Amino acid sequence: MANSSMKFLNMIVIFLVLISQGNSITECTLRSLSVSQSMTGVKVQGKPEWSVSITNTCPCAQRMVYLNCTDFQTSEPITPSVLTVSPNGICILNSGQPIVYNSPFRFKYAWDHSSALIPISSLIDCYKM
Ligand SMILES: *[C@@H]1O[C@H](CO)[C@@H](O)[C@H](O)[C@H]1NC(C)=O
Repeated sequence: MANSSMKFLNMIVIFLVLISQGNSITECTLRSLSVSQSMTGVKVQGKPEWSVSITNTCPCAQRMVYLNCTDFQTSEPITPSVLTVSPNGICILNSGQPIVYNSPFRFKYAWDHSSALIPISSLIDCYKM
């Protein structure tokens, strides 16, 4: 009797562990970083200004976030610790420091057109499941 209820409890625990692992796998990927851009209406050195918001929708922090920023140009200076633009078209966001859950990371730039900023890699820090 005691033995079979122990087995039942074990099964429940294993089941919950599988569910939580499944969730962290499906919820926490590079795609959990959502990038949105909008015009601010301001012009900087004659170019329209764009506001970028990068939100991590995953409960785990993501650090070492690299973006494909091919063709990215700006007439408005961006602090390198916010976005480091390298000549090979790969940008580092927030100096590699974590982008945390549900706390949009924002910066602005100015150019004639918006540039796609596509996350290409990150490290996902899951401390709890
Ligand atoms: C970045 O995007 C450009 C344009 O879509 C593409 O040609 C290039 O291969 C991408 N680079 C990386 C490292 O993903």
